Amino acid sequence: MNPSRKPLIAGNWKMNLGGLAGLELAMRVKSLAPQVPGVDLLVAPPFTAIAAVAHELDGTGVFVAAQNLHQQPSGAFTGEISAPMLVESGATWVIVGHSERRQFFGETDAGVDAKIRAATAASLTPIVCVGESLAEREAGRTLEVVGAQLAAVLDAIEGADGAAVAYEPVWAIGTGKNASPGDAEAVHCAIRGWLAARSEALARTTRVLYGGSLKPDNAAALLAQSNIDGGLIGGASLDIASFGAIASAAFAHARNN
Ligand code: PGA
Repeated sequence: MNPSRKPLIAGNWKMNLGGLAGLELAMRVKSLAPQVPGVDLLVAPPFTAIAAVAHELDGTGVFVAAQNLHQQPSGAFTGEISAPMLVESGATWVIVGHSERRQFFGETDAGVDAKIRAATAASLTPIVCVGESLAEREAGRTLEVVGAQLAAVLDAIEGADGAAVAYEPVWAIGTGKNASPGDAEAVHCAIRGWLAARSEALARTTRVLYGGSLKPDNAAALLAQSNIDGGLIGGASLDIASFGAIASAAFAHARNN
C-alpha cells in the first residue's frame, strides 16, 4: 500500500447470503468499521439483500456495492437490474467485469465498457476487474491480456470519478492459490504504469485491489506491496473473523506507514 491512497477492503459475497444471513453479516461489518479507522470497507451482497444491507449500514461509512448491472437505465430486459435501480436500493458502488461474469455469462470488454459508463452516469463508482487465466499465465501472456482488458476500458475508467481496478488472476479465484506478493505486485505495477501513461493523476489516485484467495494468512504480505491498495475478497468475506482479520492487516499497515 501507499500512504497517499486510502486502503479499500471489499467483500464480494457472490451468490451467497441473499437474505437474513446477509443482514446479519452486515451488522457484524458495522461493528468492525470503527475498529479499522482509515480503511474503507465495502460489501457487495446479492441484489436481493442490497436494500436491507444498505439500510443497516447507512451512516457507518461502509460502502455497499452491487456485483453487476445492466447497461441500459430501464426497458424490456427481463431479469436485469439497472444502475438507477441500484442507486434507489442504496448501493453507491458496483463491481464490473468480474471474471465469473466474463467466463460464465459471456461478458466482453465492450460490455464492461458500457457498464462502467452506465454506472458513472448514475453516480455509481465502479470496481473494474481484470485478470488472466491459468493458460494465459503459463503462456507468459499475463501482461498482454491484462493490458488489453484495461486498455479497452481506460477511457471509461478515466471518466468515472474514483473508480477502482481489481487485479484478479482467474486461476487464484476460489482455488486457495493466491498470486505470490511479488507476482501480484508486478502486475499491479504494470497497471499503475498504464494508468500513468494516460494521466499521472489517474495513476496516483486509482486504487488497485488484489483479488484471488486473499485470506488472513496472506493479507499482510500482499497488502505490504506498494501498488496493492486493498483487496477484493470472495470466500473470506463471508466470515466476519476472516474479513475482519484482512481489514485489520490493512489498518496495521496503514498505521505504520
Ligand atoms: P476469492 O474470490 O477470494 O474467493 O478467491 C475473489 C473474487 O472473486 O472477487
